Amino acid sequence: MSALRTQVGIVGAGPAGLILSHLLHLEGIDSIVIESQTRKHVEERIRAGVLEQGTVDLLNQAGVGERMRREGLVHRGIELRFNRRGHRIDMHELTGGRAITVYAQHEVVKDLIGARLQAGGQIFFEAAQVEIHDFESERPRIAFQQAGAAYQIACDFIGGCDGFHGICRPAIPAGVLRSYEKVYPFGWLGILAEAAPASRELIYSCHERGFALLSMRTPQISRVYLQCRPDEDLASWPDDRIWEELQRRFETAGGFRLNQGPIIQKGVTAMRSFVAEPMQFGRLFLAGDAAHIVPPTGAKGLNLAAADVRILARAIAVWYRSGAVDLLQRYSEICLRRVWRAQHFSWWMTSMLHRFEGGDGFDYRRQLAELEHVTASRAAATSLAENYTGLPFDLPGECV
Ligand code: FAD
Ligand code: PHB
Repeated sequence: MSALRTQVGIVGAGPAGLILSHLLHLEGIDSIVIESQTRKHVEERIRAGVLEQGTVDLLNQAGVGERMRREGLVHRGIELRFNRRGHRIDMHELTGGRAITVYAQHEVVKDLIGARLQAGGQIFFEAAQVEIHDFESERPRIAFQQAGAAYQIACDFIGGCDGFHGICRPAIPAGVLRSYEKVYPFGWLGILAEAAPASRELIYSCHERGFALLSMRTPQISRVYLQCRPDEDLASWPDDRIWEELQRRFETAGGFRLNQGPIIQKGVTAMRSFVAEPMQFGRLFLAGDAAHIVPPTGAKGLNLAAADVRILARAIAVWYRSGAVDLLQRYSEICLRRVWRAQHFSWWMTSMLHRFEGGDGFDYRRQLAELEHVTASRAAATSLAENYTGLPFDLPGECV
């Protein structure tokens, strides 16, 4: 068995784990990242696309924003579409200058892996049988296998950044965590298509046949979602059926048409809201999807992961500099304020835009009334814009 030593052992090379490792490096703190998938898999996994201003600022300040600045698409508004008409929410004007950047999560991941490896950082890909031990003590350990060899890492802290299905959260003894969960009776069927997006900005469409979202990755590649059953069988969705359904859900009185092209990727994502509290136990700190999940309608998951690890990196840095534990002890409390705000926003957007099964049409009419209000009232539109572009980092209580 190989025995290794680092200051912070990080489980998971998603956005949370990689940003944490990079921020710690900038503070002069050593970390090792352990990832169960291959490098190719994590660098090609199609996930989120919308970065809040705070996430963009964080990546820029951390020196990993060069390609994002070149290739990211800055959007100052979004469209809400209902009753076959589009209504633009001018987020930039309503929030006094905030915007979002459309830049794929796997590109963020590629940039971070490149930066970590270039700086001599250690990432173990394809790790198997990953286990965490002794995190109630001052000497936590991570054990794993790679290519048939056994490793043991001794560290001061563990970053549990291994996503919703990881091993860190379940390793916390029963009775410590309280979980809150809401599972939605629908999912999203998402496609990536070689077709120029038919709109410069994202379109969230509420239609009687179900919700649909037009997003993009580049000016040539569309990313489009349609509401489906959570267990939808992709085999029953040949490309023609997907395009036909999408065209109907985006239709307008003015004859709007999506540009169609070859579909290069498709998948179904179930939707849930989930929070585990507290986000820490002993020397184990959960961050990102390992601690909380939001439905993607608010585009908050990746941004919450970035916000968590920004606090965690600072708290760990303060501890190494001064031995002060205050910020580490308040990590969960600080993060959960933003998490619950994002939970509410994501649930609200989801409830307003999706079609719920059954009923006598009351819910749909209520949704339309809400959409009318959100698009007609400056106060309501401002609230949406503030939440969508993201609460500023350094909320009161986050400053250290
Ligand atoms: P993950 O990205 O899940 O990373 C966890 C890592 O841990 C993975 O690499 C995994 O392989 C690894 N791992 C798991 N188990 C182990 C183990 N036992 N040992 C070692 N490694 C392990 N968010 C947004 O902000 N904006 C959006 O527009 C948006 N759109 C989305 C669209 C879709 C279709 C989906 C599915 C999600 C979307 N999200 C969005 C959410 C976002 O993708 C996640 O919130 C984000 O990936 C969370 O990052 P993370 O690092 O916490 O977790
Ligand atoms: C995406 O581009 O993948 C995306 C955009 C907005 C969302 C969710 C996903 O709300």
